[in-house]
Amino acid sequence: MTTASHPIRLLGIAGSLRAASFNRALLRAAVELAPSGVEITTFDELGALPLYDGDVEATGDPVAVSSLRAAIDASDAVLFVTPEYNDGTSAALKNAIDWASRPPRRTLAGRLAAVMGASVTPGGARGGIESVKRSLRRAGTEVLDEQVGIASAPDAFDAELRLTDPLIRAEVAGLVASLVARASAGLEQAIAA
Ligand code: FNR
Repeated sequence: MTTASHPIRLLGIAGSLRAASFNRALLRAAVELAPSGVEITTFDELGALPLYDGDVEATGDPVAVSSLRAAIDASDAVLFVTPEYNDGTSAALKNAIDWASRPPRRTLAGRLAAVMGASVTPGGARGGIESVKRSLRRAGTEVLDEQVGIASAPDAFDAELRLTDPLIRAEVAGLVASLVARASAGLEQAIAA
């Protein structure tokens, strides 16, 4: 999908660091299911971000923080994929949101985002998704109400961590399409203004 100015660019950020993560696998599925013509890249450096520290921030953004900001700036919308850790998101993803939220840049303010998540329990990562939405809204991001939460993740993925459940694949495709449509409408409005 394109607008008058450029193809829609999505940035995907998954909040789990482990290689065999269901949430990272879910983000890969979203990349695969994105509408044709949409450019979707992923930010894979969450583990390289130092823990947020105001004293470090006062000396300038660390390299990984600068690349996070640049990746968000270069996107039209961000797709967050979160695990649920103790009814919230992961420390790694919360840390990224905290860095990117900070003034004066407030990189997340005025942005558009959608959130999905996977957990191994029947809860469907609801607590993780809700916590990410809450933090993003506080940071000034417009967050789609629509979301996808995968419960009992081992049943939805195969041994190679491919998302195989057809209903969930359709839900993921629908969420990505909604995000793209919203981003596209925003760009058209900006061009018309
Ligand atoms: C979990 N897990 C978990 N699951 C859940 O549904 N609700 C929860 O509150 C928690 N809490 C929790 C805390 C911590 C510290 C860990 C490590 C795990 C289980 C979690 O859903 C499972 O480990 C997922 O596989 C994590 O996502 P990834 O790493 O597969 O993407």
